[in-house]
Amino acid sequence: MLDILKIKDDFPILKSSPHGKKLIYFDNAATTQKPTQVVEAVADYYKKYNANVYRSPHYLSTLSTESYEEARESVKRFINAKTSESIVFTRNATESINFIAYTWGLKHIGEGDVIVLTIAEHHSNILPWQMVAEKKGAKLKYVHLDEDSRLDLDEFKRTISEGHVKLVAVQHASNVLGIINPVDEIIDLSHRNGAKVLIDGAQSIPNMKIDVEKLGCDFYAFSGHKMLGPMGIGVLYIKEDLLDDVPPFLSGGEMIDEVFEDHSTFAPSPLKFEAGTPNVEGAYGLIKAIEYIEGIGLDNILKHEQELTEYALSKLVEIDYVKLYGPKNAENRTGIISFNVLNVHPHDVATILDQDGIAVRSGHHCCQPLMRYLGVPATVRASFYIYNDKSEVDAFVDGLKDVRKWFR
Ligand code: ALA
Repeated sequence: MLDILKIKDDFPILKSSPHGKKLIYFDNAATTQKPTQVVEAVADYYKKYNANVYRSPHYLSTLSTESYEEARESVKRFINAKTSESIVFTRNATESINFIAYTWGLKHIGEGDVIVLTIAEHHSNILPWQMVAEKKGAKLKYVHLDEDSRLDLDEFKRTISEGHVKLVAVQHASNVLGIINPVDEIIDLSHRNGAKVLIDGAQSIPNMKIDVEKLGCDFYAFSGHKMLGPMGIGVLYIKEDLLDDVPPFLSGGEMIDEVFEDHSTFAPSPLKFEAGTPNVEGAYGLIKAIEYIEGIGLDNILKHEQELTEYALSKLVEIDYVKLYGPKNAENRTGIISFNVLNVHPHDVATILDQDGIAVRSGHHCCQPLMRYLGVPATVRASFYIYNDKSEVDAFVDGLKDVRKWFR
């Protein structure tokens, strides 16, 4: 059991009182709040270490470079990468996926090749591949969901065995339905069929122990801000044996070996992938976010999310004017629930809940193909994290009853 009161105390923003009400923050899939430890680390960086990295031998530059590389080591250990060369800092998961599309994707995917996605992907894991397909004459194939709203693994098996698949790009967990995809099996089947695999880990990194060595994926993308870290720092993991096969994404300062008037040579990875001044304070804050998460334990985090999901589902299934999307139990899913209140627009639901201090997201959640597949334009989404508790779920369910009263 998590010590929620102690955890809450570490998050100053949770003391806010929107519209005079106690804040209940259920928009964690969009971004998590930040503990004091992370906020102070970012301030500390500027108070004690700020200088540009790598460029100078002076005292502060050395401290700054050490902070940045400490962050890389910390991420390497957190996801169990074999080497720190595989850890590339980006702005967020979106940039990490675009990175691979514009580099490895444009280099290796050609005419007639197939890129396999799932219908539940976030736009960030669809649009970059549409770009590659359009430029290179490749084809996109989508795998759909089964009756329980989980990925249809049989359809995936059929699709991968149809041939010509160069890449499988799939989310580890859905930002709308919370379903956790069987990525071990997906990676194994893809590799046996000659395809590389990119995992969008945006929704799994906050709540699941990720071991990229064990998974064996080729690329893993995630954001720091969804796991208690600062905004503007993300990670792209590139499997060690592919590092030389991925061209640089952006070019410019610090990613070079030698520059001549008509050509240049590049630094070894990861520097060749990180042109320009990086987000050092973000990376430094990420160290503290990782420490905070590890202090609680990822198994405990997922268990807590699932307990809240189970509790919320048990209440919501009792309300006949609430339509739920996704599996009807919390098994093998993260703390995300998508739903609609019959005859009330999702934005109105979110606006009324906001009057009670409850923050939820409404809309298509950057997943329009999934919305079309579900046959709705939009949903309301509640997403839980370590500082949420059952009393907040009770308040949220009461809030939904108020919504109904308003619209009756
Ligand atoms: N991808 C984020 C979400 O699902 C922003 O809300």
